[in-house]
Amino acid sequence: MASPPLCSFCHGRFTFSSSKTIHEDLLYLLLLSTFLGSLPNSVLGECKNPPVIFNFGDSNSDTGGLVAGLGYSINFPNGRTFFRRSTGRLSDGRLIIDFLCQSVYTTFLSPYLDSMGSTFLNGANFAIAGSSTLPKNVPFSLNIQVMQFVHFKDRSIQLVAAGSLHFIGDAGFRNGLYVIDIGQNDLADSFAKNLSYKEVVKKIPSVILEIKYAVEDIYAQGGRKFWVHNTGPLGCLPQKLSTVQKAPDDLDPYGCISSYNDAARVFNEALLLLCEELRYEKKDATIVYVDVYTIKYDLIANSTKYGFSSPLMACCGFGGPPYNYDVRVTCGHPGYQVCDEDSKNVSWDGIHYTEAANSIIASKILSTDYSTPRIAFDYFCN
Ligand SMILES: *[C@@H]1O[C@H](CO)[C@@H](O)[C@H](O)[C@H]1NC(C)=O
Ligand SMILES: *[C@@H]1O[C@H](CO)[C@@H](O)[C@H](O)[C@H]1NC(C)=O
Ligand SMILES: *[C@@H]1O[C@H](CO)[C@@H](O)[C@H](O)[C@H]1NC(C)=O
Repeated sequence: MASPPLCSFCHGRFTFSSSKTIHEDLLYLLLLSTFLGSLPNSVLGECKNPPVIFNFGDSNSDTGGLVAGLGYSINFPNGRTFFRRSTGRLSDGRLIIDFLCQSVYTTFLSPYLDSMGSTFLNGANFAIAGSSTLPKNVPFSLNIQVMQFVHFKDRSIQLVAAGSLHFIGDAGFRNGLYVIDIGQNDLADSFAKNLSYKEVVKKIPSVILEIKYAVEDIYAQGGRKFWVHNTGPLGCLPQKLSTVQKAPDDLDPYGCISSYNDAARVFNEALLLLCEELRYEKKDATIVYVDVYTIKYDLIANSTKYGFSSPLMACCGFGGPPYNYDVRVTCGHPGYQVCDEDSKNVSWDGIHYTEAANSIIASKILSTDYSTPRIAFDYFCN
């Protein structure tokens, strides 16, 4: 079998402040440069005791889980910009979750399945590229990821009780921050099956229900702090643009597929409502919904403002303009071509974002402008 269709991402829409000024955008660029350099306390605040972080999701936040779990190879030039080697992340560098970890001075999350030199005192990453919520009970659907977490928690607490200092104890799990970033593959898989827009939208409630179950299961395990990313503009991915037969009237002003983005927005509105409902039901829980869609869509629509160009063209791929994506010659596979290291591309491989894009997205996430309620990420420091 040829390369299985790997994943996608996750994130969403909704914003109150659509009147961003140039000044704010410059601030984000400044924040970006602090990410790439050191992280001064004056900009990012203090965090004496970073939260233990548990992450669930797909390739948007997979820090090496697919490679660890299935031995599937993710080749260089993935990782070229920051790690200088492939780490199993689908990007040239850091992912959003990596920048979030850095913002609270905690180390990158090890994939739960990585048995090679991993430590889990800072948390664990259960996200695996290609994951969706449905069908459930297949590796590595969201409910399997949560089941893995429950096992991890039980075993970790046992080991701590037996005297180990290398694992997280009960309090760590109770105070932990639970990050969820999933849904993109559910939408993408539905469209890939040639379902109509209406049929895709009809499936959304069952996907949202799976996310609800995940939060409820983690809550039942004692988790009280949740950070939920909505899903990004699926219709702006070079991979979708190059492989989908799109009617000219289905393209938006930026060249993205409207019906795909509309479905992502319907998903995101339902996810926002779910978060409200869960907040109402679980008064002692903190549940932050983050509108990553709006951040990503703005980055694509206003790419030149952020110093990018050709946001619909993959840096690493094959075929040249307009999308530089060819399903037969994807990034890291024989014949691929890659852009210069200093080229400011938004899309890394046609599905995933570059480190440069991720760092801007992360700094906007950290601004709280896109969060409901407007709670900062370092609120979860202890
Ligand atoms: C979807 O439709 C396209 C074009 O009509 C066709 O080529 C493709 O085989 C279909 N795919 C599936 C999975 O049915
Ligand atoms: C592009 O930027 C302008 C000015 O900041 C903003 O009003 C607009 O919403 C942005 N476009 C998108 C699609 O986000
Ligand atoms: C992005 O990548 C493509 C293909 O590798 C390249 O042609 C383009 O110039 C790159 N740069 C920008 C800023 O988009």
